[in-house]
Amino acid sequence: MTTASRNTTLLDARVPRYTSYPPANRFTDAVGAETAADWMAAISPDARVSLYAHIPFCRRLCWFCACRTQGTRSDAPLHRYLDHLEDELALVRGLLPEGVRADAIHLGGGTPTILPGELLSRLGNGLREAVPPTEDAEISVEIDPCEIDAPRLDALAAMGLTRASIGVQDFDPVVQDAIGRHQGAEVTAATVEGLRARNVNSLNVDLLYGLPHQTVARLISTLERVLDLAPDRIALYGYAHVPWMARRQKLIPEAALPDGEARIVLNQTARELLTRNGYVPVGIDHYALPHDKMAVAARTGKLRRNFQGYTTDRADTLIGLGASAISRFPGGYAQNAPATGAWQERIAARRLATTRGYVLTDEDRACGAIIERLMCDGVADIPALCAAEGVSPVPYLHRARRAISELPDIASLEDGRLAVTSFAYVRIVAARIDGLSMSGKGRYSMAS
Ligand SMILES: C[S@@+](CC[C@H](N)C(=O)[O-])C[C@H]1O[C@@H](n2cnc3c(N)ncnc32)[C@H](O)[C@@H]1O
Ligand code: SF4
Repeated sequence: MTTASRNTTLLDARVPRYTSYPPANRFTDAVGAETAADWMAAISPDARVSLYAHIPFCRRLCWFCACRTQGTRSDAPLHRYLDHLEDELALVRGLLPEGVRADAIHLGGGTPTILPGELLSRLGNGLREAVPPTEDAEISVEIDPCEIDAPRLDALAAMGLTRASIGVQDFDPVVQDAIGRHQGAEVTAATVEGLRARNVNSLNVDLLYGLPHQTVARLISTLERVLDLAPDRIALYGYAHVPWMARRQKLIPEAALPDGEARIVLNQTARELLTRNGYVPVGIDHYALPHDKMAVAARTGKLRRNFQGYTTDRADTLIGLGASAISRFPGGYAQNAPATGAWQERIAARRLATTRGYVLTDEDRACGAIIERLMCDGVADIPALCAAEGVSPVPYLHRARRAISELPDIASLEDGRLAVTSFAYVRIVAARIDGLSMSGKGRYSMAS
């Protein structure tokens, strides 16, 4: 096997995205509503936390999408959902000590902007009353440009919106046909204009590479149209084809998917074009203009990673609201019931809807910190990160050395500093630090 083809295999390996440590598939029922309530009550009254409200509904169901979301034509489920979110906020308010403020509020999905303006206003007011935001809080939302209008933009502006993330994926009509998502460039440009007219100037665009029928020429054309919109940030995710998990992906024409080598070329082409146009690469899949908070955080070693991916959010507590939402506390993770019905039932019974989670040990914290620094900076000082948690660096140094002996060209270790040679390999190295090893089929499992 040549180095290039071996590396392609590595890139295709199914490794966690490490948006948390440990990944959410290792959560168990050891954490329930009582533990989550204890963790919430133990937050310091002067703490600054982040809030995340999950809206798991969409008007359209794009075939490529791996997000947990449900389609709805009527607004009735949205009204029911919002009633329950307000009840959940009241529960949280009752548990949090007086004085806790929000440094960040994020509305994610699904499609949060499926909520009519009136419901968005109610949600904004509910969030702000439950955990008042600080003066310079970041208030952000994920927007589907096909699901937004002036009343909803007005409601978001009234909420104090400071950032918006706009879903595009690809502008090419052939690619759009193959992924079941049609979205003209005009509707996207109108969304950008509507946001800027309301003084929301911090904008991100989501794109995907590795889509069916995507060619270098088509991707370049999409990128050029995105550059015309001049967003501060661009997220260019590698399309994850996981039809056994996201069943609607069975509609994706597999024969038209670019292979591993073609994906690398697409990614590299985008990287060159974006850097030529002044964007700085951030981590594995983000680009930002040099003045943007994310580029600054990356430059100064302050970039973080959470369930939304890369973030500038520094809070050590994240309170997740809504079906399937995950909260992170200093003591561990707590996840709400994933199904909307089950989440609503628990909230209607006036209790937190936590059904799974994870209690962190000092070793987990050290391993998580090494992986987070690798994912954010490409470098991790293993002894220093372990010392901060009071644990021995020996097992992690051992795993690092073993990874390098097996895969010498993807990382180096000097004075305990583990560095990847390219962000393309960082998840592979992170998986080794996590104690996972690759089987012959390109799948990862816990090493013995
Ligand atoms: C919640 S959606 C975006 C908001 C909004 N619903 C929209 O479609 O515009 C979050 C993002 O996840 C990414 N995503 C969804 N499915 C994916 C997949 N299979 N592989 C990689 N990224 C994916 C897409 O880039 C998408 O914009
Ligand atoms: S990409 Fe957005 S609109 Fe499409 S199904 Fe996923 S969450 Fe819904």
